[in-house]
Amino acid sequence: MSLNFARLRRLRATPALRDMLAETQVSLNDLIYPIFIEEGLDDFAPIDSMPGVNRIPEKKLEQAIKEIAAAGIRAVMLFGVSHHKDEDGSDSWNPNGLLARMIKRCKDAAPDLMVISDTCFCEYTSHGHCGVVTDGHVHNDHTIENLARQAVVAARAGADMIAPSSMMDGQVAAIRAALDADGRQDLPIMAYSSKFASACYGPFRAAAGSALQGDRKTYQMNPLNGREALRESMEDEAEGADILMVKPALPYLDILYQVRQQSLLPLAAYQVSGEYAMIKFAAMAGAIDEARVVRETIGGIKRAGADLILTYFAMDLAREGF
Ligand code: PBG
Ligand code: ZN
Repeated sequence: MSLNFARLRRLRATPALRDMLAETQVSLNDLIYPIFIEEGLDDFAPIDSMPGVNRIPEKKLEQAIKEIAAAGIRAVMLFGVSHHKDEDGSDSWNPNGLLARMIKRCKDAAPDLMVISDTCFCEYTSHGHCGVVTDGHVHNDHTIENLARQAVVAARAGADMIAPSSMMDGQVAAIRAALDADGRQDLPIMAYSSKFASACYGPFRAAAGSALQGDRKTYQMNPLNGREALRESMEDEAEGADILMVKPALPYLDILYQVRQQSLLPLAAYQVSGEYAMIKFAAMAGAIDEARVVRETIGGIKRAGADLILTYFAMDLAREGF
């Protein structure tokens, strides 16, 4: 009998061979750990919808950051939980406000740990929108002026990278111009370039204490749109972004793959709070093996084209290995 077919199983025969032939590797160099820092808080506060994630009290940030750096994490993304919210989110560009303070504290505690500043307003506005609301509408051009101010304050506080996430048109161009005018030509921008109006941000909004009523559909993208997502990322590249991002990650691997084909820039993907919660709660119910599912999803995101992955599982991976 001479059947002609490929013996693909030959290459799967032993653990050593399987490891040697793995096409995708993930390491701590690929991960960014998002953290929540709350002012006026005395102790670490668990987030019910994100088991295993705590809000870090501002006064214990130094201790928390040292642990994160010691675990081998290379970069954190900071989110402030503000007690000084107003209409425009002005605390975020106050040089003595929470955003500037937490950046300074991180850099003082662990100078080699990259600090990325999420650049938006929703954690600092009384209405919870990602910008200035005028006549019930989020005003694009007033918002990008404020984003530019916030970015300069973050840069002066010591941020290593600026990550605009408000999905305003022209936000990358406005921030690049303001940073350059402040003598910060060398500071990179990682744009949340293709960010969808996703139902997967629910746990984050609870975590960050967002006051939002309504939704963000006039600025974040329709989850059903792929071509438009490519336009968004290409536009941010043209405006001067140094790194692009797709957010959320798992439901948008097609977008990630297509941006990877169309751009030579480094590319990030954000495994968001709802993606984290889905895995955590399913594992807590005994339905899936958490450690294996985490590695499968992170590996899949990398395989689809991400150079960097933002994930709340970063500390677990740092502790347990890959
Ligand atoms: C705010 C922001 C959001 C997230 C990161 N930055 C939420 C939103 O747009 O409502 C979501 C992160 C997550 O869900 O983990 N601009
Ligand atoms: Zn926002």
